[in-house]
Amino acid sequence: MVIIRNPQERRGRSGFIPDGATGRSRILADFDVAIAGEVNLDLILYGLDREIPLDREILGDNFEMTLGSSSAILAHNLSVLGMRTAFVTRVGSDELGRIAIERLAESRTDLSHVIRSAGGTKTGVTIILPHGRSRRILTYPGIMFEMTCADLDIEYLASARHFHLSSLFLQKGLHAGLPDLLRTLKRRGLTISLDTNDDPEDRWDGVLEAILPEVDLLLPNEDEIRRIVRRETVEEALDLLGQRIPLIAVKCGPRGSLVQRGSERIPAPPVTVTPVDTIGAGDSFNAGFLTAWLRGESLQACGRAGNITGALSTLRPGGTEAFRNGELRQGFLKQHGFPIGGLTGSVR
Ligand SMILES: Nc1ncnc2c1ncn2[C@@H]1O[C@H](COP(=O)(O)OP(=O)(O)OP(=O)(O)O)[C@@H](O)[C@H]1O
Ligand SMILES: [Mg+2]
Repeated sequence: MVIIRNPQERRGRSGFIPDGATGRSRILADFDVAIAGEVNLDLILYGLDREIPLDREILGDNFEMTLGSSSAILAHNLSVLGMRTAFVTRVGSDELGRIAIERLAESRTDLSHVIRSAGGTKTGVTIILPHGRSRRILTYPGIMFEMTCADLDIEYLASARHFHLSSLFLQKGLHAGLPDLLRTLKRRGLTISLDTNDDPEDRWDGVLEAILPEVDLLLPNEDEIRRIVRRETVEEALDLLGQRIPLIAVKCGPRGSLVQRGSERIPAPPVTVTPVDTIGAGDSFNAGFLTAWLRGESLQACGRAGNITGALSTLRPGGTEAFRNGELRQGFLKQHGFPIGGLTGSVR
């Protein structure tokens, strides 16, 4: 097992910013957000205009290889938005793993606790075939299932103000220790957010039930929140879940988002764009929402911030390419008024 050291220094502790969300003042924490999660590349093939027949060769019209996986996309985009972000993962000793970590390092995410496995398990990969407004997704999880809570340095995670978990049902190795881990981090003063993403087995139980009491902020899409509580409509699901979770932000694709705090529901209108694809839009929404929330913005502003960064992500392939393009990113964020409100510092 080899620990990869980030060539860049940890982000400085400069700049006290009042903290409305957590009560932990920013200056005391090394990081704004810590994430323990999966990393892989997305291989995206465009040009599928019909079903794929067996035993025939179909020609695509474009191909992109981008940083994929919900956790890594979020870490990347949070860092680019100026949040001091720590990321822990297990990665295979293979080329795809190396490239994925290189991409993430460019965002200045702290990777000092990434573990490169010497064993034979490969880094996972996702093949995506956009198909009109829908897409086919095939993921080889590889090492994704192998990280356990024993791999996590609690002191390192607890040096952040906030802990986020994505892809709950893919991170099977974490399940056993997760309720304890979240309880410990809460005791240490961190707030906790969760984006379950899809449950490939469509069960929506087990570890989810065990950790929900620790979650301060849930970030589902419309389909996920309905499945979590087995309700027909998003409104019914929000009524129910709003009684159990302090804050919920539901991602509604081209219709923007809905924020629920207790029985209060705050819709945030979308930003109109013509998407290249919507891969990673949910994770990019999370990045904008969390950035605003951790900086103490109003819930209305948080929903709006998520919609802006979600929409930005759709303008280039995958979930990080629009964020890597400084000119596009800065122009778009400025045009739509991100950062919102007066508290947020400058976006790099
Ligand atoms: N076509 C679009 N036009 C404008 N904004 C969009 C569009 N698609 C997505 N967004 C923005 O991105 C956010 C997240 O997108 P979406 O609802 O697709 O999340 P998701 O299903 O969780 O995505 P992911 O596949 O990344 O998990 C939306 O709430 C919205 O703010
Ligand atoms: Mg999602």
